[in-house]
Amino acid sequence: MSSVLITGANRGVGLALTLTYLGRGWDVVATARQPEAAADLARLARDNPKLMVLRADVTDEASLTAAALSIGDRAIDVVVCNAGVMSNRGGVEAAGNDAADWNRVLATNVTGVFVTARAFMGHLKRANAGKLALMSSMMASSQLAAGNALGYRASKAAVANLGANLAVELKPAGIAVGIYHPGWVSSDMGGPGAPVKPNDSAKGIVERIDHLTLATTGVFEDYLGKPYAF
Ligand SMILES: NC(=O)c1ccc[n+]([C@@H]2O[C@H](COP(=O)([O-])OP(=O)(O)OC[C@H]3O[C@@H](n4cnc5c(N)ncnc54)[C@H](OP(=O)(O)O)[C@@H]3O)[C@@H](O)[C@H]2O)c1
Repeated sequence: MSSVLITGANRGVGLALTLTYLGRGWDVVATARQPEAAADLARLARDNPKLMVLRADVTDEASLTAAALSIGDRAIDVVVCNAGVMSNRGGVEAAGNDAADWNRVLATNVTGVFVTARAFMGHLKRANAGKLALMSSMMASSQLAAGNALGYRASKAAVANLGANLAVELKPAGIAVGIYHPGWVSSDMGGPGAPVKPNDSAKGIVERIDHLTLATTGVFEDYLGKPYAF
């Protein structure tokens, strides 16, 4: 039976990914930083023994290590590093675009992704052909620089770079790495006017992960398979 672990699974794209994988009959480990406030996950877990909800704050390495320990030495086929935050949306002189905001965004979007991959590496290695999916953004691409949301763009560019390097490092271990833009999604982050529904994004991302192999490891593409330049 196939299994997936998804961070930031209590709302938005993460919740939609959880629903999509459960719909396929996969075992899903959904993490949330406040499971007690994750009403949608709690409701799903009541009806679905294949869903396990764990606490993990990606800025707290100990919480990820504890989550990894709590699931023992089982294999996990796919780890999706989905949790992320938006930065101050302004430019270099915008009010609030300060070190504290950069540190918050980099800790979540970059260090958080790395530490998640590190915490569950043993579980991925025990899978037959493990896959690591990193949620970046088209805003990572320097070709699409727009002079705003500077901290977010830098963080997602770092995620893309991390993914490219992990793809090289993990290929000999048989683990493929995909870097994804989920589309402009109508989540809390994307806003209600965004054109892509979370479920459509999740369906596309899951299909892209299905297609990910060691031959395509390091790919940076959107939920429909459109490639992006770093
Ligand atoms: N929406 C878009 O248009 C879009 C476009 C490109 C890329 N993305 C990326 O796609 C991913 C999902 O985005 P989304 O639209 O679903 O965002 P969202 O609606 O804002 O949801 C973000 C999720 O990340 C979790 N999270 C934030 N900080 C965390 C932390 N320190 N530890 C654990 N979980 C944390 C949130 O949990 P809480 O509820 O506890 O805050 C929430 O579950 C993100 O990486 C985002 O950058 C989104």
